[in-house]
Amino acid sequence: MMNPDEISWLSKVFRKIDIFSSLSMADVGDLIDHMQKRHYASGVKIVKQGDPGDAFFIIYKGSVSVKKGLMVFKRKVGTLGPAQFFGEMSLLSDEPRIATVTANEETDCFLLLKGHFEHLLKKNPSFAGMMKELSEKRK
Ligand code: CMP
Repeated sequence: MMNPDEISWLSKVFRKIDIFSSLSMADVGDLIDHMQKRHYASGVKIVKQGDPGDAFFIIYKGSVSVKKGLMVFKRKVGTLGPAQFFGEMSLLSDEPRIATVTANEETDCFLLLKGHFEHLLKKNPSFAGMMKELSEKRK
């Protein structure tokens, strides 16, 4: 269960961040009902390149590094922090995770399981379109 501070923080993110602004109040309510808070210790790999996508994440506190490639060819492609999200690409494409995302510090995320994310995409073509566009840019 989320506490009132977490609910109000998430509602604000859904109102203020462009990509979520096409969602209706009912969609936001649904999202808040279905998102689960998870804590990750510093250094934990939250998603691993090559794994099947099972969830979408919004960072609440802390930060993560995004790394692509294997072993010596691994390179950092980005850092994400509060109110930014990850894990959408594999859910949009039905392909394995394109990168490994590691907690840089103690990090809290809100996670939405694949089935709920897919339902949201199906219900909201404009939201799905914006997610796809952003995802293209991250490739
Ligand atoms: P997914 O492929 O499901 O899992 C790894 C995630 O890393 C991916 O979704 C994106 O959310 C994220 N990602 C991949 N490339 C970048 C990038 N260049 N910048 C920021 N995030 C990225």
